Amino acid sequence: MRSDEARPADQTIGARSASAETGIESHLHESRIFEARKDFGASVGGAYVRNLKEYRARFKRSIEDPEGFWGEIARQFDWFQPWTKVLQWDLPDAQWFVGGKTNICHNCIDRQVLQGHGNEVAIVWEGEPELTRDAASAPRFEVRHLTYSDLLAEVSAFANVLKSLGVRKGDVVTLYMGMVPELAIAMLACARIGAAHSVIFGGFAAAAIVDRVQDAGSKIIVTCDGAWRRGSIVPLKANVDAACEQLPDVRHVITLRRTKNDVTWFAERDHWWHDLTRAASRDCPCEWCDSEDLLYLLYTSGSTGKPKGIRHTTGGYMVYTATTAKEVFNLVPGHGQLYWATADIGWVTGHSYVVYGMLPNRVPSLMYEGAPNAPAEDRFWDIIERHRVTHFYTAPTAIRAFMKWGNEHPLKHNLTSLKVLGSVGEPINPEAWMWYYQTIGGGRCPIVDTWWQTETGGHMITPLPAATPLVPGSCTLPFFGVDAAIVNEKGEEQPPNTGGLLVIRKPWPSMLRGIHGDRERYIDTYWSRVPGMYLAGDGARRDERGYFWIMGRIDDVINVSGHRLGTMEVESALVAHDAVVEAAVVGVPHEIKGTGVAAFVTLGPGFTPSEALRKDLIEHVGKEIGAIAKPDMLRFTQTLPKTRSGKIMRRLLRDIAAGRDTRQDTTTLEDFTVLAKLRESDE
Ligand code: WT7
Repeated sequence: MRSDEARPADQTIGARSASAETGIESHLHESRIFEARKDFGASVGGAYVRNLKEYRARFKRSIEDPEGFWGEIARQFDWFQPWTKVLQWDLPDAQWFVGGKTNICHNCIDRQVLQGHGNEVAIVWEGEPELTRDAASAPRFEVRHLTYSDLLAEVSAFANVLKSLGVRKGDVVTLYMGMVPELAIAMLACARIGAAHSVIFGGFAAAAIVDRVQDAGSKIIVTCDGAWRRGSIVPLKANVDAACEQLPDVRHVITLRRTKNDVTWFAERDHWWHDLTRAASRDCPCEWCDSEDLLYLLYTSGSTGKPKGIRHTTGGYMVYTATTAKEVFNLVPGHGQLYWATADIGWVTGHSYVVYGMLPNRVPSLMYEGAPNAPAEDRFWDIIERHRVTHFYTAPTAIRAFMKWGNEHPLKHNLTSLKVLGSVGEPINPEAWMWYYQTIGGGRCPIVDTWWQTETGGHMITPLPAATPLVPGSCTLPFFGVDAAIVNEKGEEQPPNTGGLLVIRKPWPSMLRGIHGDRERYIDTYWSRVPGMYLAGDGARRDERGYFWIMGRIDDVINVSGHRLGTMEVESALVAHDAVVEAAVVGVPHEIKGTGVAAFVTLGPGFTPSEALRKDLIEHVGKEIGAIAKPDMLRFTQTLPKTRSGKIMRRLLRDIAAGRDTRQDTTTLEDFTVLAKLRESDE
């Protein structure tokens, strides 16, 4: 259906499309509904769920008989030893496919090769830098096509390398790399030998590496000499070297040569990737892993200053990510599909929907190394056109940037290969949804707005492209087996259009299995506020058709450009600076990022506000955490507004941050005490 054929919904849905926290709201009354196209299935080689009736029937079964439902699906994977019980649920601990032995790397790669698909492309990779060319020719980029057989050889070789350096089943290997195929290869190599990986996003700074490596107890780091980002080199190896000054237990650092920048070499711990793999055997049998063996740790932000290592295990994660990838994107092998998720592998989207959920589906996954505006603002559209991408999955923050850059960039390119569009990471405002739908999807492609989290491992609330009528700004209905609800503090379900806490009331296969080394925090964060239910940390409502509308985080987590950031992490970084006595950080609405970072700081004796100090503090946060955490505004204040009991009045600070031009009078010392007194009653 073209957008101009959109017909009004039965009821007008008051679209508060975005978060109450961020304050970005659309004042549109969202009455547009886009029915699923009848011819969608035919255009993709067959739809798995053809209409809402089929969705409802399967959903009902999945909730009433989760063991039967997931058992049937899990049998479609290769297991070395069958499970004895599909689910063992001892709240808050789930075990799925109990006693089963498998290997996710086998199901991603070996299985495809064994079934005769070794020569099919598994990963398409494109580098960022333009290759040299003469003036007349079109830009050329470095492209690699890796087949399942290529992956089998490279993963096996690297798995042998890890073993030769002493990595054993259960050890945690830290990966701090750019978006290169070797990152996926290293992850799969870990999985192959039963080691867990901990991928650290390449945009994080040295201090963030220190925390994560220490928490994980990792003794080995795999990195790159550098990573390309918008034409410059991010010095990954140098960051690892700096981190290693505080990490005496790290015994080995393996460096992949990518950008050819100079690196400092520490003979006692450094190895080149190419030296080690050249010598390694390409034959490495898969370890038999228990369903509940740790697959990976992925650190994410929470309400305290310390990031938490989310634990994901093997069997349930494998089954759930591959199944959601298949059904939500309607992946059909052998039909010329090419899927591209623009997320960095350093985030959960990259883990689940660039690597693990994709490879078992035998639809190639495209990885792009760099920025969307390098060398020009049409880079993504150019990639879609040249590679004939059929499935495109990105974040609202990127979509808003594309809108701002102008329609001329996508309009220059033929995007008719596209069949399905996806959105993830934050609520998508209806304006961005409509632009995405029309300008990128040509009014033909369903948009799957997928709500999920690092903790959930896979999609939780999402449309299915052939079945679910779409309403811009709503992530629509829960996936199979997901018992999502909006409740109050007592766990009572809320009536339609009443805001409340988003919870999941039943276990699902890819749910987190805890926070690494912190049982108490696991229970406190997810299982205490509403007893017996998984608390997602988002506020949301359901409308009269049962559709979910995410309103934003209810904790001290903010969503900056779709990346999760704890306000306390930024505060800790600020107070670590000599000049700062106290800091408070809140989210502030931001046109592109969704939420920006606003910081209020009080200075110690001998320090006075200045533009130079402001810049210095912002840079300091970048160095401590990474560029994504840099405050968009930073204000000096005499005191922080506090309640009588000493709590920082965050709501007041949010209002102040949102209400004024952030570039003005940032260097003057402000006194919020009067305002605070006025407001104290309603904090
Ligand atoms: C938080 C989780 C899921 C992969 C990327 C983010 C927000 C995520 C949506 C969406 C509205 C969304 C939530 C959630 N979020 N997807 N489609 N609509 N909000 O993973 O870093 O663990 O962040 O992102 O607030 O709790 P994450």
